[in-house]
Amino acid sequence: MANNYNHFVNSFAIIIIIIIFIISAIFVPFSLASIVSTGNFNNDFFISWAPTHVNTSADGTTRTLKLDQESGSAFDSNNMFLFGQIDMKIKLIPGYSAGTVVAYYLASDSPNRDEIDLEFLGNVSGQPYILQTNIYSDGFGDREERIFLWFDPSTDFHTYSILWNVYQVVIMVDWVPIRVYRNHADKGAGFPRSQPMSIKTSLWNGENWATRGGKDKIDWSKAPFVASFKNYKIDACVWRGNPRFCKAISSTNWWNKERFNTLNSNQRRFYKWVRKYHLIYDYCQDNKRFQGNLPKECSLPKY
Ligand SMILES: *[C@@H]1O[C@H](CO)[C@@H](O)[C@H](O)[C@H]1NC(C)=O
Ligand SMILES: *[C@@H]1O[C@H](CO)[C@@H](O)[C@H](O)[C@H]1NC(C)=O
Repeated sequence: MANNYNHFVNSFAIIIIIIIFIISAIFVPFSLASIVSTGNFNNDFFISWAPTHVNTSADGTTRTLKLDQESGSAFDSNNMFLFGQIDMKIKLIPGYSAGTVVAYYLASDSPNRDEIDLEFLGNVSGQPYILQTNIYSDGFGDREERIFLWFDPSTDFHTYSILWNVYQVVIMVDWVPIRVYRNHADKGAGFPRSQPMSIKTSLWNGENWATRGGKDKIDWSKAPFVASFKNYKIDACVWRGNPRFCKAISSTNWWNKERFNTLNSNQRRFYKWVRKYHLIYDYCQDNKRFQGNLPKECSLPKY
């Protein structure tokens, strides 16, 4: 009797172990595909333009980009991602920065690219930066919005975030939503929803358009121009060729949960404040440019 019982317990244990093994074999490779990385630029990014113009602190947590007459510079993430949230602390070029552009964006690498852009347009000393945002879907952009920030972005680091999920893109400055772009793909509006994107930053010469439409040029006597990046956080679904996994609502893919499908009431209040006091250009209000044919999403709910 005791023998039989032991035999039964042993077989039962073996079956349980086999089941656990099978379950982990199915789920572990996928659950490793969502990451939280708060770290070291040397581990998560590579220098994609002008290594001589990029400097990383000894501990890897701070990185600078430099622009001079010789070159601009850039770095990109090693991985691509499909949905998640990326936070980056940035301190912009102090003093005279007219004609310079610091870009921080997500972009796919296909010819019909998707892209979520933040571009900081420099200015002459004492005049405000502009933060321009844009959304590309399937190679089509032309969705610019511009704001003045409510602080001088060159004196301190501030946090610039992109929340990207199946419902919306929310661009935040110090957690204040400054741009919301909803997924109205079911109504024919473009939305970046199936192409994985990498995280990119760059500093370059945009003097032919960036400042007062190109009127203020770069003053090279003020070079080098330096922008700093630090304490980034990547909490996103790493692209391993499995869209279904990244679109799923799960404990790791927290960004796809229902409460992130729209702004909460607090965020709405801040967003309205930004649009009332800080917005200086919205493509959806530019009837002249689109000759009365505003893009589809302009007539659909904003949040
Ligand atoms: C690069 O970074 C190191 C460490 O933070 C610093 O000591 C050095 O001055 C920097 N070099 C340049 C050219 O900015
Ligand atoms: C630069 O300052 C001028 C004057 O205040 C302003 O009109 C302009 O929008 C500012 N920003 C850029 C990027 O042109």
